[in-house]
Amino acid sequence: VDDMGQDLERVLLDREQIDARLAEMAAQIDADYAGRDLLLVGVLKGAVMVMADLSRHLHSAVEMDWMAVSSYGAGTSSSGVVRILKDLDTDLTGRHVLIVEDIIDSGLTLSWLLSNLRTRGAASVEIAALLRKPEAAKVDVSVRYVGFDIPSEFVVGYGLDYAEKYRNLPFVGTLAPHVYAD
Ligand code: PRP
Ligand code: MN
Ligand code: MG
Repeated sequence: VDDMGQDLERVLLDREQIDARLAEMAAQIDADYAGRDLLLVGVLKGAVMVMADLSRHLHSAVEMDWMAVSSYGAGTSSSGVVRILKDLDTDLTGRHVLIVEDIIDSGLTLSWLLSNLRTRGAASVEIAALLRKPEAAKVDVSVRYVGFDIPSEFVVGYGLDYAEKYRNLPFVGTLAPHVYAD
């Protein structure tokens, strides 16, 4: 297979920066949920890396579940109309839920997900996202834990894809223009 390195323009966040920030976020989460049972809900597929690494910095024994959602809209940006491809296995009644996401771009996915999960009788529903773009400010989604506010550029790696590729890069970076042109 080809070396992904040839497709990259620059590294935005390296693995040390990501890991250090996830450790800080985990310490905050541990403190905020002390004495409570926590359910982490990862949003497939992008949140896989964040879920794996954030959860391993936590000191309490949390539960994990997963959802897969898809935006109905065509193209690369989401429309805000969301369809559940895989629902949770867990009953949320009385649970403290923390949604784990890789990125908030338009904010439409999380806005929909937050209101959906809040209809299920959870004791609380909050959000942890590694990355947030400026567009997210236009949507009223309050995100309790944010790793990094990043510029409005297309980023890949650490779970984030371009046409399903580059999720396995261990850092977050931008793609070289020739990748889009191919
Ligand atoms: C990406 C990303 C977030 C969402 C953010 O997922 O992982 O879940 O888009 O976009 P928004 O804030 O504009 O709604 P995507 O739908 O590409 O699925 P994936 O996680 O499987 O890549
Ligand atoms: Mn996603
Ligand atoms: Mg994607």
